Amino acid sequence: MNTTVTTRTLQRVIEGLATSDGAGVKLRRSLGQGQGSRLDPFLMLDEFSSDNPGDYIAGFPPHPHRGFETVTYMLDGHMRHEDHLGHVGELKSGGVQWMTAGRGIVHSEMPQQEQGRMRGFQLWINLPAKEKMKPASYRDIPPSEIPVAALAGGGTVKVIAGSLEVDGSRVAGPIQGLSTDPLYADVVLPAGAVFSQPLADDRNAFLYVYEGSATVGPPEAPRPLKSQSAGVLSPGSRVEVTAGTDGARFLLLAGRPLREPVVQYGPFVMNTVEEIEQAITDYQSGKFTQAAA
Ligand code: FE2
Repeated sequence: MNTTVTTRTLQRVIEGLATSDGAGVKLRRSLGQGQGSRLDPFLMLDEFSSDNPGDYIAGFPPHPHRGFETVTYMLDGHMRHEDHLGHVGELKSGGVQWMTAGRGIVHSEMPQQEQGRMRGFQLWINLPAKEKMKPASYRDIPPSEIPVAALAGGGTVKVIAGSLEVDGSRVAGPIQGLSTDPLYADVVLPAGAVFSQPLADDRNAFLYVYEGSATVGPPEAPRPLKSQSAGVLSPGSRVEVTAGTDGARFLLLAGRPLREPVVQYGPFVMNTVEEIEQAITDYQSGKFTQAAA
Protein backbone atom coordinates (compact mmCIF):
# COMPACT_ATOMS: atom_id res chain seq x y z
CA MET A 1 0.00 0.00 0.00
CA ASN A 2 1.32 3.41 -0.93
CA THR A 3 1.03 5.65 2.09
CA THR A 4 3.02 8.60 0.77
CA VAL A 5 1.14 11.84 1.25
CA THR A 6 1.73 14.39 -1.47
CA THR A 7 0.25 17.82 -0.98
CA ARG A 8 -1.10 19.26 -4.20
CA THR A 9 0.56 22.42 -5.43
CA LEU A 10 -0.95 25.29 -7.39
CA GLN A 11 -0.19 24.35 -10.97
CA ARG A 12 -1.97 27.01 -12.98
CA VAL A 13 -4.06 30.12 -12.30
CA ILE A 14 -6.99 31.05 -14.54
CA GLU A 15 -8.11 34.57 -13.74
CA GLY A 16 -11.83 35.19 -14.10
CA LEU A 17 -12.56 37.36 -17.12
CA ALA A 18 -15.48 39.78 -17.24
CA THR A 19 -18.00 38.71 -19.88
CA SER A 20 -21.75 38.42 -20.34
CA ASP A 21 -24.12 35.63 -21.27
CA GLY A 22 -27.86 34.97 -21.59
CA ALA A 23 -29.69 38.24 -22.37
CA GLY A 24 -26.80 40.30 -21.00
CA VAL A 25 -26.03 39.00 -17.51
CA LYS A 26 -22.63 40.24 -16.39
CA LEU A 27 -20.41 37.52 -15.07
CA ARG A 28 -16.86 36.42 -14.56
CA ARG A 29 -15.68 33.28 -16.38
CA SER A 30 -12.61 31.37 -15.24
CA LEU A 31 -12.74 27.77 -16.47
CA GLY A 32 -14.18 27.63 -19.97
CA GLN A 33 -12.74 30.85 -21.41
CA GLY A 34 -11.43 28.62 -24.19
CA GLN A 35 -10.56 25.03 -24.96
CA GLY A 36 -7.28 25.25 -23.04
CA SER A 37 -8.93 26.44 -19.85
CA ARG A 38 -11.07 23.43 -19.05
CA LEU A 39 -10.19 20.84 -16.40
CA ASP A 40 -11.65 17.44 -17.28
CA PRO A 41 -14.47 16.75 -16.35
CA PHE A 42 -15.18 20.44 -15.64
CA LEU A 43 -16.03 22.55 -18.67
CA MET A 44 -16.82 25.98 -17.28
CA LEU A 45 -17.21 28.02 -14.11
CA ASP A 46 -19.01 31.37 -14.08
CA GLU A 47 -19.38 33.65 -11.07
CA PHE A 48 -22.14 36.25 -11.11
CA SER A 49 -22.07 38.91 -8.43
CA SER A 50 -23.76 42.28 -8.52
CA ASP A 51 -25.86 44.70 -6.48
CA ASN A 52 -26.93 46.42 -9.69
CA PRO A 53 -30.14 45.00 -11.24
CA GLY A 54 -28.97 46.17 -14.67
CA ASP A 55 -26.26 43.53 -14.49
CA TYR A 56 -28.65 40.60 -14.04
CA ILE A 57 -32.30 41.55 -14.62
CA ALA A 58 -32.43 40.29 -18.23
CA GLY A 59 -31.60 36.77 -17.05
CA PHE A 60 -31.29 33.73 -19.28
CA PRO A 61 -34.38 33.37 -21.52
CA PRO A 62 -35.17 29.92 -23.03
CA HIS A 63 -32.09 28.18 -24.41
CA PRO A 64 -31.01 24.57 -25.01
CA HIS A 65 -28.32 22.30 -23.58
CA ARG A 66 -27.15 18.81 -24.56
CA GLY A 67 -24.42 16.48 -23.34
CA PHE A 68 -23.46 17.69 -19.86
CA GLU A 69 -24.67 18.91 -16.46
CA THR A 70 -25.19 22.46 -15.21
CA VAL A 71 -24.95 23.21 -11.51
CA THR A 72 -26.20 26.55 -10.22
CA TYR A 73 -25.32 27.54 -6.66
CA MET A 74 -26.92 30.72 -5.35
CA LEU A 75 -25.16 32.62 -2.59
CA ASP A 76 -27.61 35.54 -2.66
CA GLY A 77 -30.74 36.17 -4.66
CA HIS A 78 -33.69 34.39 -6.24
CA MET A 79 -33.96 32.87 -9.70
CA ARG A 80 -36.68 30.76 -11.26
CA HIS A 81 -35.88 27.84 -13.54
CA GLU A 82 -38.50 26.61 -16.00
CA ASP A 83 -38.01 23.93 -18.63
CA HIS A 84 -39.84 22.24 -21.50
CA LEU A 85 -40.57 19.21 -19.31
CA GLY A 86 -42.76 21.41 -17.12
CA HIS A 87 -40.38 21.66 -14.18
CA VAL A 88 -40.39 24.88 -12.20
CA GLY A 89 -37.70 25.42 -9.60
CA GLU A 90 -37.19 28.35 -7.27
CA LEU A 91 -33.53 28.84 -6.58
CA LYS A 92 -32.94 30.96 -3.47
CA SER A 93 -29.95 32.02 -1.37
CA GLY A 94 -27.91 28.99 -0.33
CA GLY A 95 -29.73 26.62 -2.69
CA VAL A 96 -28.44 24.54 -5.58
CA GLN A 97 -29.96 23.30 -8.80
CA TRP A 98 -28.29 20.26 -10.33
CA MET A 99 -29.49 19.82 -13.90
CA THR A 100 -28.52 16.96 -16.16
CA ALA A 101 -29.16 18.15 -19.69
CA GLY A 102 -28.51 14.70 -21.17
CA ARG A 103 -30.01 14.42 -24.67
CA GLY A 104 -31.63 17.79 -24.47
CA ILE A 105 -33.39 20.37 -22.40
CA VAL A 106 -34.71 23.84 -23.17
CA HIS A 107 -34.88 26.00 -20.09
CA SER A 108 -34.85 29.54 -18.78
CA GLU A 109 -33.23 30.97 -15.68
CA MET A 110 -34.82 34.29 -14.75
CA PRO A 111 -34.24 36.62 -11.76
CA GLN A 112 -37.21 36.96 -9.39
CA GLN A 113 -35.98 40.20 -7.82
CA GLU A 114 -35.86 43.73 -9.11
CA GLN A 115 -33.20 44.94 -6.73
CA GLY A 116 -30.60 43.74 -4.26
CA ARG A 117 -27.68 41.45 -4.61
CA MET A 118 -27.53 38.48 -6.92
CA ARG A 119 -24.50 36.31 -6.42
CA GLY A 120 -23.62 32.73 -7.20
CA PHE A 121 -22.00 30.32 -9.59
CA GLN A 122 -22.77 28.14 -12.56
CA LEU A 123 -20.55 25.14 -13.11
CA TRP A 124 -20.68 22.87 -16.18
CA ILE A 125 -19.63 19.25 -15.69
CA ASN A 126 -19.18 16.95 -18.65
CA LEU A 127 -21.01 13.65 -19.04
CA PRO A 128 -19.28 10.49 -20.28
CA ALA A 129 -20.07 9.54 -23.91
CA LYS A 130 -22.37 6.73 -22.80
CA GLU A 131 -24.52 9.14 -20.75
CA LYS A 132 -24.72 12.14 -23.07
CA MET A 133 -28.03 11.01 -24.54
CA LYS A 134 -29.78 9.97 -21.33
CA PRO A 135 -33.07 11.70 -20.49
CA ALA A 136 -32.83 15.17 -19.01
CA SER A 137 -33.42 15.50 -15.29
CA TYR A 138 -32.87 17.99 -12.56
CA ARG A 139 -32.88 18.35 -8.85
CA ASP A 140 -33.49 21.39 -6.66
CA ILE A 141 -31.58 21.23 -3.40
CA PRO A 142 -32.69 23.62 -0.65
CA PRO A 143 -30.05 24.92 1.80
CA SER A 144 -31.47 22.68 4.55
CA GLU A 145 -30.27 19.59 2.63
CA ILE A 146 -26.68 20.80 2.34
CA PRO A 147 -24.51 19.85 5.35
CA VAL A 148 -22.16 22.41 6.89
CA ALA A 149 -19.33 21.26 9.18
CA ALA A 150 -17.10 23.30 11.47
CA LEU A 151 -13.38 22.97 10.82
CA ALA A 152 -11.07 22.37 13.79
CA GLY A 153 -8.76 25.19 12.69
CA GLY A 154 -11.63 27.67 12.32
CA GLY A 155 -14.14 28.23 9.56
CA THR A 156 -16.71 25.98 7.94
CA VAL A 157 -17.13 23.71 4.95
CA LYS A 158 -20.39 23.11 3.11
CA VAL A 159 -20.56 19.95 0.98
CA ILE A 160 -22.89 20.04 -2.03
CA ALA A 161 -21.61 16.95 -3.86
CA GLY A 162 -19.33 14.08 -2.91
CA SER A 163 -17.93 13.85 0.59
CA LEU A 164 -15.08 15.02 2.80
CA GLU A 165 -13.59 13.56 5.95
CA VAL A 166 -13.75 16.41 8.47
CA ASP A 167 -12.03 15.77 11.79
CA GLY A 168 -12.73 12.07 11.64
CA SER A 169 -16.33 12.20 10.48
CA ARG A 170 -17.58 11.93 6.95
CA VAL A 171 -19.59 14.86 5.65
CA ALA A 172 -21.58 13.79 2.60
CA GLY A 173 -23.37 16.18 0.28
CA PRO A 174 -26.79 15.47 -1.25
CA ILE A 175 -25.33 14.67 -4.70
CA GLN A 176 -23.67 11.24 -4.85
CA GLY A 177 -23.07 8.41 -7.28
CA LEU A 178 -22.37 10.25 -10.55
CA SER A 179 -19.86 8.85 -13.05
CA THR A 180 -17.53 11.82 -12.58
CA ASP A 181 -17.94 11.49 -8.78
CA PRO A 182 -17.70 15.26 -8.25
CA LEU A 183 -16.73 16.91 -5.00
CA TYR A 184 -18.28 20.38 -4.70
CA ALA A 185 -17.42 22.13 -1.43
CA ASP A 186 -17.77 25.76 -0.31
CA VAL A 187 -15.18 26.70 2.33
CA VAL A 188 -15.12 29.75 4.59
CA LEU A 189 -11.88 30.42 6.49
CA PRO A 190 -11.01 33.21 8.94
CA ALA A 191 -7.68 35.02 8.50
CA GLY A 192 -4.72 32.65 8.73
CA ALA A 193 -6.79 29.48 9.16
CA VAL A 194 -5.64 26.34 7.35
CA PHE A 195 -7.88 23.94 5.43
CA SER A 196 -6.08 20.62 5.02
CA GLN A 197 -7.95 17.62 3.62
CA PRO A 198 -7.19 14.32 1.93
CA LEU A 199 -8.32 14.26 -1.70
CA ALA A 200 -8.14 11.13 -3.85
CA ASP A 201 -5.16 11.47 -6.17
CA ASP A 202 -6.98 10.13 -9.23
CA ARG A 203 -9.16 13.25 -9.23
CA ASN A 204 -8.58 16.49 -11.08
CA ALA A 205 -9.12 19.40 -8.72
CA PHE A 206 -9.29 23.18 -8.65
CA LEU A 207 -10.12 25.99 -6.25
CA TYR A 208 -12.01 29.18 -6.96
CA VAL A 209 -11.45 31.99 -4.47
CA TYR A 210 -14.42 34.38 -4.42
CA GLU A 211 -13.59 36.47 -1.34
CA GLY A 212 -10.28 37.32 0.30
CA SER A 213 -7.15 35.51 -0.73
CA ALA A 214 -5.29 32.30 0.02
CA THR A 215 -2.03 30.48 -0.34
CA VAL A 216 -2.12 26.98 -1.73
CA GLY A 217 0.24 24.05 -1.34
CA PRO A 218 2.62 22.61 1.24
CA PRO A 219 4.29 24.99 3.73
CA GLU A 220 7.61 24.70 1.85
CA ALA A 221 6.06 25.70 -1.51
CA PRO A 222 3.04 27.96 -0.94
CA ARG A 223 1.68 29.92 -3.87
CA PRO A 224 -0.76 32.82 -3.66
CA LEU A 225 -4.24 32.69 -5.17
CA LYS A 226 -6.26 35.89 -5.22
CA SER A 227 -9.99 36.28 -5.47
CA GLN A 228 -11.92 35.83 -8.72
CA SER A 229 -9.30 33.31 -9.83
CA ALA A 230 -9.40 29.57 -10.37
CA GLY A 231 -6.34 27.64 -9.23
CA VAL A 232 -5.76 24.27 -10.88
CA LEU A 233 -4.07 21.83 -8.51
CA SER A 234 -1.29 19.36 -9.33
CA PRO A 235 -1.83 15.65 -8.71
CA GLY A 236 -1.48 14.66 -5.06
CA SER A 237 -3.32 13.08 -2.17
CA ARG A 238 -3.98 16.16 -0.04
CA VAL A 239 -5.12 19.73 -0.52
CA GLU A 240 -3.89 22.50 1.78
CA VAL A 241 -5.14 26.09 1.69
CA THR A 242 -4.24 28.91 4.10
CA ALA A 243 -6.45 31.99 4.27
CA GLY A 244 -4.88 35.42 3.79
CA THR A 245 -5.13 38.37 6.17
CA ASP A 246 -8.76 39.08 5.20
CA GLY A 247 -9.79 35.44 5.37
CA ALA A 248 -10.90 33.46 2.36
CA ARG A 249 -14.05 32.02 0.84
CA PHE A 250 -13.50 29.51 -1.92
CA LEU A 251 -15.01 26.62 -3.82
CA LEU A 252 -13.13 23.31 -3.93
CA LEU A 253 -14.04 21.17 -6.94
CA ALA A 254 -12.70 17.75 -7.81
CA GLY A 255 -13.83 15.06 -10.23
CA ARG A 256 -12.86 11.90 -12.02
CA PRO A 257 -11.52 12.81 -15.47
CA LEU A 258 -13.35 11.29 -18.45
CA ARG A 259 -10.39 11.40 -20.89
CA GLU A 260 -12.71 11.60 -23.89
CA PRO A 261 -12.67 14.06 -26.80
CA VAL A 262 -14.64 17.24 -26.16
CA VAL A 263 -16.34 19.08 -29.01
CA GLN A 264 -18.31 22.12 -27.90
CA TYR A 265 -20.59 24.41 -29.83
CA GLY A 266 -22.10 26.91 -27.38
CA PRO A 267 -24.56 25.02 -25.17
CA PHE A 268 -23.92 21.61 -26.80
CA VAL A 269 -20.96 19.51 -25.61
CA MET A 270 -20.42 16.20 -27.40
CA ASN A 271 -17.52 13.95 -28.48
CA THR A 272 -17.52 14.48 -32.26
CA VAL A 273 -18.36 17.16 -34.83
CA GLU A 274 -21.07 14.86 -36.26
CA GLU A 275 -22.76 14.68 -32.85
CA ILE A 276 -22.71 18.48 -32.63
CA GLU A 277 -24.29 18.76 -36.09
CA GLN A 278 -26.93 16.27 -34.96
CA ALA A 279 -27.59 18.34 -31.81
CA ILE A 280 -28.13 21.49 -33.90
CA THR A 281 -30.45 19.63 -36.31
CA ASP A 282 -32.39 18.07 -33.44
CA TYR A 283 -32.79 21.41 -31.69
CA GLN A 284 -33.83 23.25 -34.85
CA SER A 285 -36.38 20.59 -35.74
CA GLY A 286 -37.93 20.68 -32.29
CA LYS A 287 -36.72 17.23 -31.18
CA PHE A 288 -35.49 18.54 -27.83
CA THR A 289 -39.00 19.42 -26.78
CA GLN A 290 -40.81 16.39 -28.18
CA ALA A 291 -41.79 13.55 -25.89
CA ALA A 292 -39.25 10.74 -25.70
CA ALA A 293 -39.65 8.13 -28.43
FE1 FE2 B 1 -28.84 27.11 -19.04
